[in-house]
Amino acid sequence: MFVFILGREFRLSLAEIYSLFPGAVFSGANEQIALITNVSEKEVCARFAHMGGIIKVIKILDEVKDVPDFMTVAKNYLERVDRTNKVPFAVAGYGEKFDNFATGLRIKKFLKSCEDKSFRLVNKEPKNINSAVYKKEHLAESHTELNYVKIGKSSYMGITIAYQDVDAYAARDMDKTRDMGVGMLPPKLAQTLINLVGIQSNDHSAIYDPFCGLGTVLIEAAHMGYDTVYGSDLSSAMVVAANKSMGEFAIKNDIDLDGCIFESDASKIAATIPEKMNIKTTSIVSEWYLGDVLGAKTVAPDKITEQCRKLARIYDSMFRDLRTIGWRGTIILCFPFWDNRGKDVFFEDIIPIIDRYGFERKELLWENIPFRTTPHWSLLYRRPGQTVGREIYKLQLLPKGELGLKL
Ligand SMILES: C[S@@+](CC[C@H](N)C(=O)[O-])C[C@H]1O[C@@H](n2cnc3c(N)ncnc32)[C@H](O)[C@@H]1O
Repeated sequence: MFVFILGREFRLSLAEIYSLFPGAVFSGANEQIALITNVSEKEVCARFAHMGGIIKVIKILDEVKDVPDFMTVAKNYLERVDRTNKVPFAVAGYGEKFDNFATGLRIKKFLKSCEDKSFRLVNKEPKNINSAVYKKEHLAESHTELNYVKIGKSSYMGITIAYQDVDAYAARDMDKTRDMGVGMLPPKLAQTLINLVGIQSNDHSAIYDPFCGLGTVLIEAAHMGYDTVYGSDLSSAMVVAANKSMGEFAIKNDIDLDGCIFESDASKIAATIPEKMNIKTTSIVSEWYLGDVLGAKTVAPDKITEQCRKLARIYDSMFRDLRTIGWRGTIILCFPFWDNRGKDVFFEDIIPIIDRYGFERKELLWENIPFRTTPHWSLLYRRPGQTVGREIYKLQLLPKGELGLKL
């Protein structure tokens, strides 16, 4: 049994688990954690490294009655840790108000009798440590971050087996050409979007971003092991910048990449798709929006309507083209939604476009969980204080027999 600690947009984090572990059984969740069974530690560790929406993973070792029982189980675990000298350990808590520092000190006191090793408590405050401290203290090597997890009526003791490497995301982000005046996708979100495609059973699967900008999706896809990535953009300057970032990324990581980055208007996508791109096994993962145009002070209903009209023209044409060529790959797209002085306004024109050209909106979450997608079957991502957020859909062209086209 594993506990996944979810990111700020916890529904997206849950969707990422749902998509990457198709056989997993969901056993409980709140806005911070999800309890998952029927997955192996090997597959959790292999996939976690590229899960932008998951902060850390805990392997459950025991069910406990309460915090004092947790302390006993934690003490027994630490005594058995295969290490001599000073063993660093930390205490984390989820689902119940918890003084980590005091609890950690008490565990340390119980441990005094241990002869071959001594212990050092890493927590300095009554709260969980962060990933930087986890890394600095080498807790991954000793597996000695001990977690008390309360979910529903049950409580557990577990050890952290993986923690998000925040520094690595920041470093990849900083490596890109940044001075192009274009809004960039956060790398963690790019990974989550790629993961929503699902597990790729076909070795030849590839990713295509038709609004690639500076290439965040392409770089993250390459980082996640996709060896074929395609990108295109209306702006030749963006194509040059994305090619430069991709080239530098490939050299730095010593990887051979197939695919290409080319100039193209996404509204005429059929005419420019390279011949070698396999439209059955390539997935589109992309965002396009003019997020920087509207801020909290300039947002207004007529400006939103104007932007929706512009977006609708491009997407109508793009979906018509994708339908014409029979695009079979999965499509993950971000559309904008706006905070119009406290009221969310959605790009609802996209729904008739998706339907008209025979695309189906796919389920993003388990049916038996207490959290739902939006009524449009989408999920939302918005940074605190931002006027424009992203509405995320998973789409697939329906098989021919099921097309109810109203062309
Ligand atoms: C918000 S940016 C994408 C940023 C990208 N996700 C990143 O992280 O770097 C949107 C991009 O769409 C491009 N674009 C605008 N209209 C387009 C069109 N009709 N076809 C293709 N690209 C277009 C712009 O040039 C811009 O680079």
